[in-house]
This record gives sequence, C-alpha cells and structure tokens, in this order.
Amino acid sequence: MRGFQSLIAMILLTTLFLVFLSSLHLEKTHSHKLEQKDVRKIIQVAVKPNATLSPLSKQARNTKALTISSGLRKAIPQNQAYWNRLLYSALGRVDKKNLEHHQLWSHCRDVDQELLKTNIHDFTSYPSMFQEFLMTMNCKSPPLLVNQPYKCLSSEGGPPFIFFAVKSRPGNFEQRQSVRETWGREGVFQNGLRVRTLFLLGNPSTNEPDLSALMSFEAKTFKDILQWDFKETLLNLTLKMDAFLHWTLKYCPQVSFIFSGDDDVFVNTPALLSYLQSLEPSKSAQLFVGHLISTAAPLRDTKSKYYIPLSFYDGPYPPYIGGGGFLISGSLLQRLHSISHVIPFYPIDDVYIGMCLNALGIAPVAHSGFHTFDVSEQDRENLCVHKGLILIHKRSPTELKKLWKGIHSPILTC
Ligand SMILES: *[C@@H]1O[C@H](CO)[C@@H](O)[C@H](O)[C@H]1NC(C)=O
Repeated sequence: MRGFQSLIAMILLTTLFLVFLSSLHLEKTHSHKLEQKDVRKIIQVAVKPNATLSPLSKQARNTKALTISSGLRKAIPQNQAYWNRLLYSALGRVDKKNLEHHQLWSHCRDVDQELLKTNIHDFTSYPSMFQEFLMTMNCKSPPLLVNQPYKCLSSEGGPPFIFFAVKSRPGNFEQRQSVRETWGREGVFQNGLRVRTLFLLGNPSTNEPDLSALMSFEAKTFKDILQWDFKETLLNLTLKMDAFLHWTLKYCPQVSFIFSGDDDVFVNTPALLSYLQSLEPSKSAQLFVGHLISTAAPLRDTKSKYYIPLSFYDGPYPPYIGGGGFLISGSLLQRLHSISHVIPFYPIDDVYIGMCLNALGIAPVAHSGFHTFDVSEQDRENLCVHKGLILIHKRSPTELKKLWKGIHSPILTC
C-alpha cells in the first residue's frame, strides 16, 4: 500500500513538473513574440532629451589594461604647446595607473577661462570657435535626442555586416535622401551581407531655423537618424565620432565593420563589400583603411577652417586616414573607445582617430580606391573610372543619383 501511494505521488509530481516546464516554454515564446511586437512599436520612440546613456560595461571603462604604443611618443613631440602638454600629462597618468574618469556632461562646461589664459599665452587671440573647443573639450557622452536602439536587432539573421555611419548636418535633407537612394540603401547584398545606414547629427545652433519637426518626421519615416544634443559644428566632429563609438558599443557591438564618411561622397557599395570579403581574417580584424595621409602637419593659415594655433599643437601629425570616408573593423571599436578616454580630444576628427589608433599600435593602410580629394578633372563624369573605385569626394545629391544609375547600367561596358 505504501509503495502504491508513493508511486501515485511520484506520478503526480512528475506531471506537475512537466506542466510547469511546458508553461515555462509557453511563457518564453509568448514574451518573445511580445518583444518582437514591442520592438516594432517602439522602434521609433526617440529617447527623451537629457536621458543619459547607461554606463558602458566595466570592460569598456577598463582603460587600465591599455598599453600605449611607443610609436605615439615618437610621433608627437613633447613640448610647450597646450595639447602636447595635455597629452603627456595623460600618458604620465596611464603610466602611474592613475586615470580619472571623464567629466559628466552636465559639469564639463565649468572650465575656468583664467586657467586657459594662464596656460595659453595667446588664448584671447584664438578664433572664437577654437576658444569654444578649448572650453568644452572635456565634454563627452552627450545625451541622445533621437535613437535607433533596435537598429542592430531589426535585421534578421544576426548583426549587420557593416554600418554606413554618415556624418551629416541637420539641414542636409537632400544629401541624406540621395545617399538612401544610392550607396546607403539598406538591405542584404552579395553573399547575404547585411548593410545598415545611420546618419549622425548634432543640433543646429539657436540662430538657425528650427528643424526639429522635420527631423522627427524623417527619423520616424526612415529609422536611420541618430541625433545628439550637442552643437553641430566643425570642431565638434571629434565629439560626434566618439558619441557614435559609444553608441555602437552599447547597441551593436557585434557589427563587423564601420564605414565612416561624409554625406557628400560617392561610394561604390558593391566594390566596397567585395573588398571587405576578400580580406584575410587576420587583416580584417585590425582594419583601418582609406585614403592615407602620411605626412601632414597642422595648417597655420589663420583663415583656413582647419587652422591650428602653434601654441595649441606643435609637431607633425601621425599618419591618418582622410575623414571623407574610411573603413574600420568592429573589433577595434572597444579599444578605440577606451583610448579616447586617455588621448585628449583634438579639434580635427580624422587626425584624432589617427592619433588614437597610433596609440594602439595600429597602422593605417592606404587603399588606392579611396579618393577624398576627387579624381582628375577629365574623369569626373567617367562611369568606368567610378566603377573601378570605392570612394570619391565630393558629389552633389544629383550627381550621386546619376553616377549610381550609371555604374549599374547593364549596357555599361568598361
Ligand atoms: C560642442 O557642443 C557643445 C554642446 O552643445 C557646445 O557647448 C560647444 O560649444 C561645442 N563646441 C564647439 C567647438 O562648437
């Protein structure tokens, strides 16, 4: 009798357990379905202004594990210029493993002007946008105004192969549309490679017309706008790049490659994808490629938009890749972001990325298919020339459409 009772009890227990298991399974599929629906529903909900990104993982902040290549000290001289001094004092702190965290967005503007005047003897003669850069160069991780948190998940079959991260300005609606209709078209390309496009934007200044309603319509319609709450200026492009690195590490760390470029370039997407696919794995894991600028120095002409005062930076630039368009491996982003907490921001974004990768010991690679200074005059409308290249700067929205149609024409024989 005892045996029979315990047998019944065991059967009951097992049944209960099975029922429990299957309910668990149901719940899982149910919530999965819900999640997918929610994703579609909230895909376009812009993050409220002032919402800050949640802190990155510990690993991302772990700058202590970084080693700075000796090449950086060779490439950038130690002298009295302000940025050079900032760099060497930061390197000294890395050596002593005494790193401070970057300042909070809300406090980074409390910079003492007197201190800057003491440190830079001719600070008051700097162009005002340069003074502004100096007063806000510690500001990092700006709040997102328009986010695409599901950009990475919304593609079936895994994370995207490549993000086209296009630096744009709020008013450049036509350029963005032209990119969407040509080289930046999202989709699945040869060999199942998934391409996703994101336009990176700051905020127009208060003197400009209010574009926010148009922007939010655009973001809802195309789901390819990332906008941060910082002023859209030339000298804030380094901040834009860093904000995008931060975003990618948070929302899509598995992406294989990033193409970073301007909204006025022509990109031959099929050629670019073929090139990436042809790479050996060891090469594609450490890729930093484009138009190599190997011997450059700051421009000292005060009228140039890239003017750099001598008392700010003194020395040549480490080799870098022209910012009109370059490719970088997703697997480098983590280290690049970590090192950006050490190397002080530099007002020219492509020079800055070159410096950071130099610090990581990664050499930029030249590719003859990247023409950030355009091709020769007589080739500017030559479709065969365009078909053989990867990137050309610069082209108007209408030229982009024409070239794109042209290189895909079945009757084109090159
Ligand atoms: C960059 O953006 C911040 C935040 O809007 C602003 O305070 C700063 O003046 C900008 N810097 C430059 C150089 O325009």
